[in-house]
Amino acid sequence: MSNTKKIFDLIKKEEQRQLSGIELIASENFTSPDVMSACGSVLTNKYAEGYPGKRYYGGCEVVDEIENIAIEKAKVLFGAEYANVQPHSGSQANQAVFLAPSFYGVEKETGLLNYDKINDIAKKEQPNMIIAGASAYSRDMDFKKFREIADSVGAFLLADISHPSGLIAKGLLNSPIPHCHVVTTTTHKTLRGPRGGLILIGKDFENPFGIKFKSGKLKMMSNLVDLAVFPGNQGGPLEHIIGAKGIAFGEALQDSFLNYINQVKINADSMSKELVKRGYNIISNGTDNHMMLIDLRNKNITGKDAEKALVLADITANKNMVPFDDKSPFVTSGIRFGTPAITTRGLKEKDMEKIVELIDSVIINYNDTEMIKKIKNEVNEFMSSRPLFIA
Ligand SMILES: Cc1ncc(COP(=O)(O)O)c(C=O)c1O
Repeated sequence: MSNTKKIFDLIKKEEQRQLSGIELIASENFTSPDVMSACGSVLTNKYAEGYPGKRYYGGCEVVDEIENIAIEKAKVLFGAEYANVQPHSGSQANQAVFLAPSFYGVEKETGLLNYDKINDIAKKEQPNMIIAGASAYSRDMDFKKFREIADSVGAFLLADISHPSGLIAKGLLNSPIPHCHVVTTTTHKTLRGPRGGLILIGKDFENPFGIKFKSGKLKMMSNLVDLAVFPGNQGGPLEHIIGAKGIAFGEALQDSFLNYINQVKINADSMSKELVKRGYNIISNGTDNHMMLIDLRNKNITGKDAEKALVLADITANKNMVPFDDKSPFVTSGIRFGTPAITTRGLKEKDMEKIVELIDSVIINYNDTEMIKKIKNEVNEFMSSRPLFIA
């Protein structure tokens, strides 16, 4: 078999895997056929180091137009004055902005952020930068409070909204845009775009580090971010992915995306309530967004074992540390569930009861191979009539 055929056979196999299972990884989603088409287009052939109108290569007129559309759509979607759509990933978007992060956590009793404690840490550590962001926090964030804390110690404030950006774009959660110096996000989670990153500035400002043009004029923050992305962190931009980002931002500006993201939140709320009914311990007792983190210690199963058993039943989710976890990151006491992907497949709040029933059966019977096989068949049957993407 040729190498190419092998790869395409595996792509078919992966498509089948995605179709037959229940996808609860909070960072994943299913993109529209248009977004996938742009990713697999001729744009992948184009080198375009630099920025629209200022490229290091010829023949960039068309990709310039595409990149400008993506930039404009991102600015409208988030109400920001500046957008850089080139970061190849969320990590690279962050790398371009990082100076020196400080660490804080949630409260042991409530699972919530305590802004007084964050303030105390900031006073003690005097960080250059504070990052407001999380991968497994199911509550809304007070970015205004974060800005007050940052200003009180002269720190730069970065919000990483990789997870909730789709909900923030449609006004379902607080926006960091008016409060944070710079905002980063991935484009492939709740935003439902191609795999990639995005950097935003609500209102551009003179950089606080005293970096000047030759003329003596202070550079704007957006000038520094552009330089940090290219050439600081990356070479040629992925123009096919930027084209797909432009399409995804356009999709997210439509009312149908508001219906979608509203349903993501309703589904997460319903799933967390069903889990509570079955005795599961949700960190912070519920969710305001698209995900939830479950402490499995009262169920006598580790995150690692729960993840493994769920995957065998074609329910994909990931193990996750819980606050003050006594187990290693490779074992963990928790598991994280998210509803962005199953909502794209058209599942509604009433379906969450069924999903939680399936999850609970797996966790109760995690050592029973026969039972897990039966649940897998039920999962496959439940998802068989649902396409990956419902507009
Ligand atoms: C909050 C947050 N920021 C950044 C990232 C990294 O994004 P990427 O995988 O695109 O580098 C993640 C990944 O899940 C994330 O949860």
